[in-house]
Amino acid sequence: MADVKKIGVIGAGQMGGGIAQVAAQAGIDVVVQDPFEQSIEKCKALRAKLFARGVEKGRMTQEDADAATARLSYCSDLEGLKGCDWIIEAAVEDVTLKTELFKTLGGMFTGENVVLATNTSSISITTIAAAAGDAAPRVVGMHFFNPVPVMKLVEVIRGLQTSDEVAQRTVALSDAMGKTPLVANDRAGFVSNRVLMPMINEAFYAWMEGVAEPEAIDGIMKLGMAHPMGPLRLADFIGLDTCAHIMNVLADGLHSERYRPCPLLEQLVSAGRLGDKSGRGVFAYGDA
Ligand code: CAA
Repeated sequence: MADVKKIGVIGAGQMGGGIAQVAAQAGIDVVVQDPFEQSIEKCKALRAKLFARGVEKGRMTQEDADAATARLSYCSDLEGLKGCDWIIEAAVEDVTLKTELFKTLGGMFTGENVVLATNTSSISITTIAAAAGDAAPRVVGMHFFNPVPVMKLVEVIRGLQTSDEVAQRTVALSDAMGKTPLVANDRAGFVSNRVLMPMINEAFYAWMEGVAEPEAIDGIMKLGMAHPMGPLRLADFIGLDTCAHIMNVLADGLHSERYRPCPLLEQLVSAGRLGDKSGRGVFAYGDA
């Protein structure tokens, strides 16, 4: 992994911030790019809080926390990523935005060793790579899981154009970041969301059809299947709009209507009940 000196993370949100944190803790310099000052300030504050918690819990020393903080820098423009030898894009899940971004990145990063990774959870890596022009063999999926500092997995996804060398280097970098990389090919939902999302969707059907109330559905999956969160609580954590969106990606990509979102899931999204981020989804949070 010695070949990766500086990572550029695009997006200071929950995923981008978490990715930047684990890279900095692994001893790599990181610059986080986000056009919104407010997102950067929130990201910095959360890092400070989590490092302080790590020290308090004895998971890291104060020196480690200070060193990791010093390795993190921030910028508002893509220009600020110049000099990075690895990019991890963690912007919003929008195919138009991502293809435009990778077109720009392909033109900016022409060095043959610079890898352009995307943290997309369901958009085709092959489609994103195609937008990057000559850089397509250097485009790869690097799918982290929320909360990134806690979850061990990186799902490494090879697009049709991804070179063997880039796939191997992505596995090596994920290892060096303290994660466990597992490789999948580029099919809708990859492995993680192809298996997870239909389970979540089925939990909405079970609720809609009156098989059980949400608390019982979640309790059964937690106690019977040793899941840390029940599927409905997890749907709130991920975002109900994201879950519905990924189900539609599966239905379109796998050419099967059986993957369409459950009508109850769609109805909650229409009502603005998006989960944790809106204060109410299946369950209510805070004062909502
Ligand atoms: N960032 C960093 N650390 C966090 C965190 C966050 N956002 N949230 C929780 N933690 C840490 C806590 O600080 C705590 O550590 P310490 O107390 O030791 O300091 C530890 O995680 C456990 O947290 P809690 O005690 O508060 O709660 P918990 O034991 O219920 O664990 C959880 C919380 C880790 C989120 C656990 O419930 C869990 O693993 N849930 C399942 C998460 C999951 O499935 N994620 C994948 C979602 S799918 C996805 O991300 C990709 C996609 O494509 C949709």
